[in-house]
Amino acid sequence: MYYAEELVEEIRLKNDIVGVVSGYVKLQKKGGNYWGCCPFHNEKTPSFAVSESRQMYHCFGCGVSGNVYTFVMQYENYSFPEAVRMLAQRAGVNLPEAEQSAEEKKRAGRRARLLEVNREAAKFFYFQLRSPHGETGMKYLQRRELTPETIHRFGLGYAGKSGYALVEYLRSKGFEDELIREAGLATHSEKHGLSSQFWNRVMFPIQDINHRVIGFGGRVMGDGEPKYLNSPETPIFDKRRNLYGLNFARTARSGNIILCEGYMDVIAMHQAGFTQAVASLGTAFTPEQAILIRRYTDNVLLAYDSDGAGVKAALRGIGILRDAGLVGKVINMKPYKDPDEFMKNLGRDAFQERIDQAENSFFFEIRMLSEQYDMGDPEQKTRFHREIARKLCEFSEDVERENYLQAVAEKYFIGVDNLRKLVISYAAAGGTARPMERPKPGVAPKKAPEDNIRRSQKLLLTWLADEPGVYEKIKQYVSPEDFTEELYRRVAEKLFAGLEQDGFQAAGIISTFEDEEEQRQAAELFNTTLPNLETRQEREKAFHDILLAVKRGSYEYYTARLGVDVNALTKVVEGKKALETLAKTHISLD
Ligand code: GTP
Ligand code: MN
Repeated sequence: MYYAEELVEEIRLKNDIVGVVSGYVKLQKKGGNYWGCCPFHNEKTPSFAVSESRQMYHCFGCGVSGNVYTFVMQYENYSFPEAVRMLAQRAGVNLPEAEQSAEEKKRAGRRARLLEVNREAAKFFYFQLRSPHGETGMKYLQRRELTPETIHRFGLGYAGKSGYALVEYLRSKGFEDELIREAGLATHSEKHGLSSQFWNRVMFPIQDINHRVIGFGGRVMGDGEPKYLNSPETPIFDKRRNLYGLNFARTARSGNIILCEGYMDVIAMHQAGFTQAVASLGTAFTPEQAILIRRYTDNVLLAYDSDGAGVKAALRGIGILRDAGLVGKVINMKPYKDPDEFMKNLGRDAFQERIDQAENSFFFEIRMLSEQYDMGDPEQKTRFHREIARKLCEFSEDVERENYLQAVAEKYFIGVDNLRKLVISYAAAGGTARPMERPKPGVAPKKAPEDNIRRSQKLLLTWLADEPGVYEKIKQYVSPEDFTEELYRRVAEKLFAGLEQDGFQAAGIISTFEDEEEQRQAAELFNTTLPNLETRQEREKAFHDILLAVKRGSYEYYTARLGVDVNALTKVVEGKKALETLAKTHISLD
């Protein structure tokens, strides 16, 4: 959906950034800014500044910055259109109906209907649980020690004795049989007609990150089979790309995500205050889910069952996390089977200790490996050491490999030098398992080193956004074409046009970019830290230097393009003149 620039700007102006951010972060006014602890990285002392006059935020700790749109996009993990819709609603601005093709409309309509029917089904189960018919369900959940608040928070419900009641209810709400079937809420048979497979079970609605019900898990209240019955995949229910509990976990801000195996584990963890717990949806953990988690954190703690199947699943999970560039650690649940049991027996403080002691995934892998070998047998012991060496080869970075090598050698009483020799012989034999550089957690793909010209262009944009008054003094020397970086030039065009008008705010420029990555980069442009200079003289000198650097950069750029670019000659001639004038012009900053 595309929203007109004026509308986007109107909505921005109606959402004061200080007001919006205070809804999420505790802010305190100090000097010209409002300060708080950055919600995008872990910190105890505030380095997150929100400027009312500029309508922007900037964290001096982790470097994030932007306007009110990028804030809700980052915090709520919304796309740009979602952020527009949310802020429009907040400010009471009406948005035009989406302009979609007939096909798109049909598809969107279908999805919306599927969400509606799921929502209605969740309501049905929810009220059933609280009705006299739901007593068995309620008793079961109480036996599992869930509090009324927890039952409510997770929207738990109950499917009664028959598979017809849900269907009847949904029909009465105007949903067609076809839709009920497509939503995976019922199946049709010759004998029974349309009836739901969900009956005599407690129901766990599965929600997407926006709290919309996309499917269900239903558990038998005892030992029946299958223990859980899950909705089939539908156009709105993709089991590979959603995680149970993520709708709450994504705003937990705990610095990690705890990955569990079961729905009940997630619920027990949340009830104990670990609202960062999530679980996969009745299927094994997937790479798509790892990437989903990566939006929120780099640290994942595995809280899988302590039995053989749990360990196997954890080992698989570790590989997936590693491939996604995430740091995995394993929580030791022993002597209990799973987080749910652990919490009931030892409680939250003991669990917090287990979190703090979580084992590095590499050591976990090696420890699990060690259990397969009899260390009393020299042959088996050697095989174990070879396996370690093979695994060490997977580290592509020397320092990292060496650190692990030393740690593991110490732990298993292996001579460091011997182990190193083994690793080298493995590597020489082509054992380096990962020829590719693997992504380092939390680090974006390598950026080309920022050269001085680009830096000057960035600084000049920041300066102009910070002190719009300067624009009048320099506009005769600089034009948007002097910004040779494509994105910078586009920002400069908008900035210069804006500065020609009164009461202009640079924050608005950010949201005129369609692409989210561009928005991020544009926001960054306005928040380059300006040199911290004491005297006016120093500031004027610095400004002059920046201006000259930008002009020189542009001059060189166009000189190199003479004969290729028809505008180059004009720019070169003009640039040379500007450089000469600037060299002997003093620009005062007051
Ligand atoms: P409780 O046994 O009630 O504590 O539930 P749990 O969530 O701890 O379940 P468990 O550890 O046995 O299983 C983990 C997850 O695997 C569940 O939450 C389900 O998502 C899934 N699962 C378990 N049993 C079945 C089953 O019979 N069928 C399907 N499709 N999924 C299952
Ligand atoms: Mn369990």
